[in-house]
Parts: sequence; structure tokens; C-alpha cells
Amino acid sequence: MKLERFSSKEDLYTRAVDIIVNAKNDGATTFGLATGGTMEPLYAKICETDADFTNCMSFNLDEYVGLSAKHEQSYAYYMYKHLFHHKPFKESHLPNGLADNPTEEAARYESLLQQYPLDFQLLGIGQNGHIGFNEPGTSFDSLTHLVTLEESTRQANARFFDSVDEVPTEAYTMGIQSIIRAKCILLIAVGEAKRTVLERVLASEYTEAVPASVLTKHPNVIILTDLQKEENEQ
Ligand code: PGA
Repeated sequence: MKLERFSSKEDLYTRAVDIIVNAKNDGATTFGLATGGTMEPLYAKICETDADFTNCMSFNLDEYVGLSAKHEQSYAYYMYKHLFHHKPFKESHLPNGLADNPTEEAARYESLLQQYPLDFQLLGIGQNGHIGFNEPGTSFDSLTHLVTLEESTRQANARFFDSVDEVPTEAYTMGIQSIIRAKCILLIAVGEAKRTVLERVLASEYTEAVPASVLTKHPNVIILTDLQKEENEQ
């Protein structure tokens, strides 16, 4: 894992855009994308570039169960609003939050991912170490599946809804195995709330109790953070 620390968020996001655009220019055509507060400034910056993704495909990490693509808190809507509206891809895929049969929907999405292996995967990280919606304890061998969201994740995401009661209780997520098949992974961890979990990942713990720690064994991971070393750190 390569770690880059930034004292300015502006510089961090500029670097993130460079990494993504360079990956595209080097031939990446299949991009795994993420949502969340961390990604909003990134997508805003990508929209300011002249990068053209119309020959690329995107596959989002996850989607809430029960929300249509038109629902303002669905990840399909988020992606349209923050990125695809301005930077269309040739094809953009997300799990279908309204699918009738969750088992079939997870299998459909996983088979798409296997058909179009990811060249690049963008990741945020949850305070509990989740990547996508793979909560602590998820098998490192997991494929796309339906999850029941942890209460802490629903609370963390409640800021995007009118109340926590409106946050769905279930979601589809790429599995950890689906994620780490990507050739290159960029993880962005911004803000004090991510310090403890980032330290655990950087300490090279490798445990299903911290889903993001799976990245310690991936050959091509870049982590960008605005967190500076604390004085007692080496
Ligand atoms: P955030 O979410 O960017 O809103 O902090 C990240 C995540 O939960 O993966």
C-alpha cells in the first residue's frame, strides 16, 4: 500500500483526479465507483476536467434496497447528480434496489463484474472499517450480496436523510472478493472520524473485523488522506 498524506484537501482531491485520469489514459476502461461525502469533492473536480469517460464502464459498489433510481438518496441518483450528468460513461451499472429477488439480483451484478473485470476501484472507508457496505465480520471471500446495515452505518448516513428511520436497513454491496479483484485500488480517507480505523489498516492488521484491512495484501493500493501523523506515531 502506498500512503500519501496531504495538509490540504484541495491538494488531496487534485491528486485523486490525477490518479484516475492517468489510469484512464493508461488504458483503464472499467471503473468501480463509490458514493458518500468523501467522493463529492472528487466528482466535482473530475467534472471540471476535460476527461472523457464515454468509452468507459462504471460499476458502483453498492445500492440501498428499497430505493428507486429516482429516489434522491439512492446511489443511482447520487451518481447521476454528482458525476454522470456531467461526465457520462458508455455504460453505468449499479445494483437495482427495487429488484424482486435479492438473491438473483446479487448474482446478476456479480456476474456482470466477472464479465467486465475492474481495472480501477475507488473506495471510501467507514468508521467501522467497512468498504462498500461490507461490514465488520464479512468474509474476505464474499461476492456481491445483500447486507443488513449496522446501526452505526445507518446513523452515519442519516445526515443524508430527514431522519435515521428513513435510512434503509438493507443494501446490496459488491463483496470483498469482488472489490479486491480490481487491478488498482484508490482509497480516500478524509476527516478525524476515520483516524482510528485508518491507523488499524496502516498497522497492517489483516482481519475480517476490519474489512478495509484486506487491502494490506493487495499489490496495487494507493491511500490518500488528510490526516497527519500524531506526534507519538513513528
Ligand atoms: P463517507 O462514507 O464518505 O460519507 O464518509 C464512506 C463510507 O462509508 O464508505
